[in-house]
Parts: sequence; C-alpha cells; structure tokens
Amino acid sequence: MATERTLSIIKPDATRRNLTGSINAVLEAAGLRIVAQRRVRLTQAQAEAFYAVHKERPFFRGLVEFMISGPVVVQVLEGDNAVARNREAMGATDPKKAASGTIRAQFAEDIEANSVHGSDSAENAAIEIAFFFAQVDIVG
Ligand code: CMP
Repeated sequence: MATERTLSIIKPDATRRNLTGSINAVLEAAGLRIVAQRRVRLTQAQAEAFYAVHKERPFFRGLVEFMISGPVVVQVLEGDNAVARNREAMGATDPKKAASGTIRAQFAEDIEANSVHGSDSAENAAIEIAFFFAQVDIVG
C-alpha cells in the first residue's frame, strides 16, 4: 500500500466544543499520523479560495460564514492510503448518514457543522496541503 498524505481540517463547531484532542485520537487510532498541524482563524478570502470548487452551490455562502466563525485546526495526515483512510474515519458528509464510530457520527452537529474536512482525492490533497503548508512545515 502506498504511503499518502491528506489535508484535514477540524472545523469551528469542533474547536468551539474543545474536541481537537478527541478527534485527533480517532485519527491516530485509524492509523493516521499527524505530520503537521496549526490552529488558524481563516479569513473570508481564504475560506472562499479553499472552497472555490463549491462556489456555485447553494450552501457556499453559509459554508464560508461557518468556516470563519471560529478557529480551525489544519493538519496533514500521513499513512497507508491516507486519503481513503481519513474519509473512512470521518464518515459521510451528512452525520445522519455517517457510520457509527466515525468522527461525524460521534461529533458533527449537522451537514454544515460537520466537524471535519478531508481531501477527496490524492490530487486534491496535494493542492489542499500546499494551500496551508510549506514542505518545511511537514515533519514525517
Ligand atoms: P466538506 O467535506 O468540508 O466539503 C464541503 C462542505 O460543505 C461540507 O464538508 C459541508 O460542511 C458543507 N455543506 C453544507 N451543506 C452541504 C450540502 N448540502 N452538501 C454537501 N456539503 C454541504
């Protein structure tokens, strides 16, 4: 299996409820290594740029407002098949559909305040990691 990296964001609903450590524990138990991590307050321009792929979607404005409503924790996760492994650990976007034991099933409030983001492909992971981290910040 290939060692991969993926970008993860612990969202404002989770930082507000002091869940960073609980979420990191699920990620680490799933075999993912946190090789970079930073707590940041996104600007509106950063949130819009990060989610630009969704800009025509009806939920775009609300999503940007939510993502700038509090601090987030951006992180790089490393492991075998990290992209898929992280998506499995997160569970479905809508917490009502997320498998039990997943981060979203345990912690998410609703489809918007869904506690975590994870890259959806290796290609997007590379783009999303570069959005937040320089190579020198990532310590494998
Ligand atoms: P995320 O994985 O960060 O990618 C886009 C985000 O948009 C998603 O998680 C949700 O937080 C948010 N979102 C809000 N409403 C919807 C919706 N109806 N469908 C998909 N994503 C939504």
